[in-house]
Amino acid sequence: MAKTFNVTVQDQHFPVTAGGRLLDAALQNGVDLPHDCRAGQCGACTIELTQGITLGGEVGCGNILACQARVFSNLVITPHDAPDPMRCAGVVEEVSQLAADVVKVSVKPRRPIDWLPGQYMKLQFGRLPARSFSPTAKLSDGSFDDRLTFHIKQVRDGLVTPKLGHEITAGSKVTIEGPFGHAFLREDHAGRIVLLGSGTGFAPIWAIAAAARKASATRPMVLICGARSIESLYMQAALHQAHKHPQTRLQIVLEKRHAKLPTIPCGTPADHMPALNPDDVVFAAGSPRMVEKAREKAKIVGARFYADAFTPQGASRPAASTGLGRLARLFAAPGR
Ligand code: FES
Repeated sequence: MAKTFNVTVQDQHFPVTAGGRLLDAALQNGVDLPHDCRAGQCGACTIELTQGITLGGEVGCGNILACQARVFSNLVITPHDAPDPMRCAGVVEEVSQLAADVVKVSVKPRRPIDWLPGQYMKLQFGRLPARSFSPTAKLSDGSFDDRLTFHIKQVRDGLVTPKLGHEITAGSKVTIEGPFGHAFLREDHAGRIVLLGSGTGFAPIWAIAAAARKASATRPMVLICGARSIESLYMQAALHQAHKHPQTRLQIVLEKRHAKLPTIPCGTPADHMPALNPDDVVFAAGSPRMVEKAREKAKIVGARFYADAFTPQGASRPAASTGLGRLARLFAAPGR
């Protein structure tokens, strides 16, 4: 008969067959460990292995992915706490265009919602289907207030996002549910943060960057921002904030090379990551391909990795303003 081990998580206990996957055993026994993809991709199931032996899913600093870890002794594990999701009514306070296909939407919830930078909410405007978006910090100064601010890509032929700024405007009612997701900033790690955001994946990444910078002015940070083209770089105000900080190394990456800005490299943020070390923590938000590549790089060195993968939808339209002069100045200083 197969050997069975005992797992303790806070005040709960459950059995696992030797070599069994930790998350599977927890769920089979009615213990609701945080999880999402169950495939080692998203980091949502990251927990601290306080005591015991597992194999697989190691992500550094004593943390493991419960969906990948196989159990080979009695264990004590500690989940990383996240606020409980709630549902409340709110009102849209502002819808403004950030780029040709990206809008900023500010929502005032009727009650304060406790959320962590990097998490996401489900928004339902009227009777339209709910959609998931990540709240973020102000682009101008990285501050947060009691509003929830989202950067939303308007998907051509979409059911919801093309209505933003038209049928959905200031004063529209919205139902907010959340927060969800586990790709959030942890306070138990003081090392370097490597942040990768492509497209509106910049929203959760900027929330994490702003909160981490508020917590520590000296913490090393690498911020890699990817966009389809110069016209899609709607977050230039935030990039200037990051560029000015002596402990932040900023890299902008474009999918398409720009003839007048040849120093901006092409590719995705994952193509331009620095050499990682096991003490780094890496956050990625954007296209699944970019996220997967970043995850592989983090895995090779055993760095902690959290991700929020976005499924790309629709295509960009030409933008009105490029801000070329400001971007050229941004790249005037070497090594940033
Ligand atoms: S649920 Fe384990 S990595 Fe996504």
